[in-house]
Amino acid sequence: MDRDRVATRLLSSSAEHSYDPSVEIDWEAPLAADLYFVPPHRSSLYGTAVWERLTEQQRITLTRYEAASIAGLGIWFETILMQLLIRSYYGQDPTSAHAQYGLTEVADECRHSVMFGRMIAALDTPVYRPDGVNEFLGRWIGATASGPRMFAAILICEEILDTLQREAMASPQVQPLVRMVSRIHVVEEARHVRYAREELARQVRAASRRRLLFDKVVIGRAAYLCGTRLIHPAVYRSIGLSPAEGRAAARANPYFRETLRWSAGRVVAYLSELDLVDGPGKPLWNRSGLL
Ligand SMILES: [Fe+2]
Ligand SMILES: [Fe+2]
Repeated sequence: MDRDRVATRLLSSSAEHSYDPSVEIDWEAPLAADLYFVPPHRSSLYGTAVWERLTEQQRITLTRYEAASIAGLGIWFETILMQLLIRSYYGQDPTSAHAQYGLTEVADECRHSVMFGRMIAALDTPVYRPDGVNEFLGRWIGATASGPRMFAAILICEEILDTLQREAMASPQVQPLVRMVSRIHVVEEARHVRYAREELARQVRAASRRRLLFDKVVIGRAAYLCGTRLIHPAVYRSIGLSPAEGRAAARANPYFRETLRWSAGRVVAYLSELDLVDGPGKPLWNRSGLL
C-alpha cells in the first residue's frame, strides 16, 4: 500500500536521524549576555516605537519571553498530537509500517516536549500556554479529532514552527541553546510534516462534503489560535507593558504581520491546494493574521 511505502521510508529516516536532547544539548552551558532568543527582526515588536525606546538588553529580554511562548505553544500542540496519534494507533494493525511510524512520531514528540520544557526552565520565564476558550478547545480536539481537521491542525502548527526554527537555527544573532533546540526539532519535524501532508490529502479525498464543511471551521479556528497565541500577550510584562498594550502594538506592527504571513506561507499554500482555506472557516483565517 502507498501509505506503507511512505511510512517505511520515514521509519528508516527516523532510525538514522533521531536525537536525544538530554545527550546532544549542553544544558549546563551559560546563556550568552549579548545574544537574542529569536532573530531580532522576528520579534513581535521589532521596528515599532516601543522597540525603538527599548535598550539592547530589554530587546533581548523580550525575545527570551517570546521564545518561551513559542515553545509553550509547541508543547501544548505536541501533547494534543500525541493523544491523537495514540488513539489512531489503537485501531490499526500493529504490523503495518503506517501504524509503526505513527507510534515512532509519538516517541519524537515525547522527546521534543521534554526538550522544550527544559529550554523554558533554562530561559527562566513563566510557562505560556493557551488558556480560556483555547484551553477548552485543545481538550476537545485532543479527545475527539480525526480525519482532515486532525491532520490540518497539526500541519498548521508544525509548519509555522518549522519555518521560524529553520531561520533561528542558522542565525548567529541567536543563543546557541535555542539554535540547537531548533536544529533538532527541524530535522525530526521534516518527517512529521511529510506524514501529515500525505495523510491529510488522503483524508480529504475520503471525506464527505458535509464533513469537510465542519472540518473547515475547526481548521480555521486552529489557524486563528496559532496566529493569535504564538506570542502570548503576557510576554510584554517582561518589558513593563501590559498584555493589552503589547498585543495592540504587535498587531499593528507591519513587520510582525509580515512575519506571521511568512511563517505560514508554505502551509497556507498546501492547504489552499486542498481547498481547506476557503468556505466557512475563511473568516477565522482572515482574523488569524496568517493570510
Ligand atoms: Fe515536535
Ligand atoms: Fe511533530
